[in-house]
Amino acid sequence: MYKAPRGTFDILPQEQAYWKYVEGKVAFLCQLYGYQPLSTPIFEDSELFTHAVAGGTDLVDKEMYTFEDRKGQKLALRAEGTAPVCRAYLEHGLFNLAQPVKLYYIGPAFRYERPQAGRYRQHHQFGFEAIGSADPALDAEVIEMAQRFFFSLGLSQFSINLNSIGCKLCQPKYVEALQEHYSDYTEQLCPDCKVRLVRNPLRLLDCKKASCQKIAETAPKTVNYLCPECQAHFQSVQKYLGALGITFQLNHRLVRGLDYYTRTVFEIEPQEEGTQQSALGGGGRYDNLIEELGGKPTPAVGFAAGIERLILNLKRQKIAVPSLPTPAAFIACLGEEAKIEAAKLASALRKNGIAVIEATGDKSLKAQLRQANALGAIYTIIIGKQEMENRTIILRDMRNGEQKAIPQTEIITALKQGETA
Ligand code: HAM
Repeated sequence: MYKAPRGTFDILPQEQAYWKYVEGKVAFLCQLYGYQPLSTPIFEDSELFTHAVAGGTDLVDKEMYTFEDRKGQKLALRAEGTAPVCRAYLEHGLFNLAQPVKLYYIGPAFRYERPQAGRYRQHHQFGFEAIGSADPALDAEVIEMAQRFFFSLGLSQFSINLNSIGCKLCQPKYVEALQEHYSDYTEQLCPDCKVRLVRNPLRLLDCKKASCQKIAETAPKTVNYLCPECQAHFQSVQKYLGALGITFQLNHRLVRGLDYYTRTVFEIEPQEEGTQQSALGGGGRYDNLIEELGGKPTPAVGFAAGIERLILNLKRQKIAVPSLPTPAAFIACLGEEAKIEAAKLASALRKNGIAVIEATGDKSLKAQLRQANALGAIYTIIIGKQEMENRTIILRDMRNGEQKAIPQTEIITALKQGETA
């Protein structure tokens, strides 16, 4: 028997209510903040990610799904959403529109990670990006939008971590200080961090190993190395957040796992005790990325959340989501003639926009009613020999088991009234 590949899973019909719920909230939120949908391909030139996210990150070094097509072109499954959005922004000349351009997306991302609860090889991200403005008010708006998204889902037990990691000018000085700090502990570092110390020192702060985290605790803080412009920007972001009434905590070790970030970085973490602290979402500024990808210098800021993790948290916090719509009626029938009548009736009802499911095979009435119940039908329409002769049907309300005979001509009205009852 074939199985879904490790780290991937099917989203069965009974799970879909959660997905539709989240998607509905996403669409409402993005409309509220003026973001427009953008869909990008599931695979891209692999260099887009290696260039944007950069070597020395786990994502590029260990997690990308890369392959060559039949002509030898190197492609990669979408590893994250920001680089493709920037690529599309440049490719379609969106810089000619009024800036910032605000875009959002929902779709799968692929990372070769060690699967565990909340960590998959295919996960889905909802992300939004505001490209073309360095205004700190926009950073605060993006953080507020992320928070409003979680609140709109009914989630409340989360916290916002915030930091600034500076720009091209001030970050190198910080990195130097970081290297100096870590060079006193080289023997204690995990093998990955030994490489990070040389290749990508900022990532040292990201290491989840307890021994390395201890060293990170006493590491220099990015905020103490910001240039005056970055410092003013960060102060301003915090001022706007304060004005918007958003509670956040400064986290000096927050650097994010991707290399394109500059200045503001933030992450949203669940607070629940006993659950593994894995970010529900994260984002920040990436003021150099568009230029790195061949465009003019264009500041930008954005955020993405993993939908699987959101759903895990909805379940943990016992948040009920609306069920998917069930059929208005199930049509049960007894006998060959009645079955033809049922097929005609089903067609007529669907033509009128009424969702129905008709019985198949020749099951007993009891079995047909059981099926109607399992499908969550509001009514069962029963057609037997007598009903055929009288041109009536029996309408059974599945909510209370009451049933009555009504003329066939009255079915549509009865169903429409019943659905809203
Ligand atoms: P990221 O932090 O790598 O950021 O991913 C965003 C979110 O996707 C994470 O916070 C997490 O909820 C979810 N996620 C990531 N990897 C997995 C996984 N293996 N399994 C399940 N969920 C996962 C980005 O990708 C950036 N593009 C975000 C961004 C947008 N920054 C600026 N704009």
